[in-house]
Amino acid sequence: MPKKPVRKAVFPVAGLGTRVLPATKSVPKEMLTVVDRPVLQHCVEEAREAGIEHFIFVTGRNKAVIEDHFDVAYELEETLRRRGKLKELEELQSSLPAAGATSFTRQQEPLGLGHAIWCAREVIDDEPFAVVLPDMITLPGSDGKRCLRQCIDTYEELGGNVIAVEEVPMEETSQYGVVAKGREFGKSFEIVGMVEKPAKGTAPSNFIISGRYILQPEIFDFLRKGEKGAGGEIQLTDSMRELKTTQRFFARNFDGKTYDTGSKIGFLAANVAFALSRPDIEPGFRAELKRIVGSL
Ligand code: UTP
Repeated sequence: MPKKPVRKAVFPVAGLGTRVLPATKSVPKEMLTVVDRPVLQHCVEEAREAGIEHFIFVTGRNKAVIEDHFDVAYELEETLRRRGKLKELEELQSSLPAAGATSFTRQQEPLGLGHAIWCAREVIDDEPFAVVLPDMITLPGSDGKRCLRQCIDTYEELGGNVIAVEEVPMEETSQYGVVAKGREFGKSFEIVGMVEKPAKGTAPSNFIISGRYILQPEIFDFLRKGEKGAGGEIQLTDSMRELKTTQRFFARNFDGKTYDTGSKIGFLAANVAFALSRPDIEPGFRAELKRIVGSL
C-alpha cells in the first residue's frame, strides 16, 4: 500500500532552556546562534531539505521573536536593497518559508515534550508527521543527507513510525530515551521496546532517541490522556510505547553527527563543528582554532 507522504513537521520550542542560563533568560534557546544563524534555522533548513512543506512551531511565552524570524523584515530588506547588499538580501529572502507554510501554536505551560506535540494536533490533523527537536542540530551522514531525510527514507521503505537513534556509552543512557533493538533492515532496525531515562544499569541498549521522529497521527489517541512520566513530565516516549502495541516502530541509526545545543558544551562543540563544515568560514576559523588549541 502506498505510504502517505510526510509533509508537516512540528518544532516544539516551548521549553525553558534552563541548562543554558543565563543566555536563555530573555532569548529563546532555539534563537541562540550557531555560526551565523539561529539553531532553529538550521533545523528548518534540515526539514526543508527533507521535503517538508509545512512548519509548525509550538511556542510559549517570551518566544515571539521566533515568529518574527520567519517573517519578512521589511525595513531591513529595504535598507539592504538601498545599500546594494544584494547577496545578504538574497540570503534573507531565500531562507524564508513560503507564505502560509508556517503555523504557530502555544503550549501555555511547559508540561513536557509529549504535551507540546499534543498542542499541534489540530494543525497536523490526520496524516503522518515529523517531529524535529530544535535543540539537536545535525551534520550530514555518509550519504550527504541530514538526519530527518534519512528518517524519511526509512519511512518510505518500511512505513510505520520511525525514530532516529544513535549510540552513546552505556553509562550515559540514563539521561535519554532508550530503545531496545530487534530485527535489522539495512541501516534501520525494528524497535521492540523503549523507555525514557532508565535508571542506571537498566537500559535495554545504548541506542538513544536523538531528536527526529516520523509519527502516525494515532499517537494523539495516547497523548490525549496527558499522563505524567519520568521527571513528572508528559513524555512523548510513553505515548510511543503505547502506540507500539498496535503499530510498528523502526529506528534509523543516523550515521552523521548530532549536537545538543541545549547544553553548554554541546552548544560550543556545535559552533566549532558547523564552522569547520562551512567552506566560506573554515579557512579563517581553522587558523584561529589552531592558535587557541596550540596554546592549551
Ligand atoms: P528539553 O528538556 O531538552 O528542553 O526538551 P528544555 O526543557 O527547554 O531544557 P532544559 O532541560 O530546561 O535546559 C526537548 C525539546 O522539547 C521542547 C524544548 O523546547 C526542547 O526543544 N519542550 C520541552 C517543549 O516544547 N515543551 C515542554 O514542555 C518541554
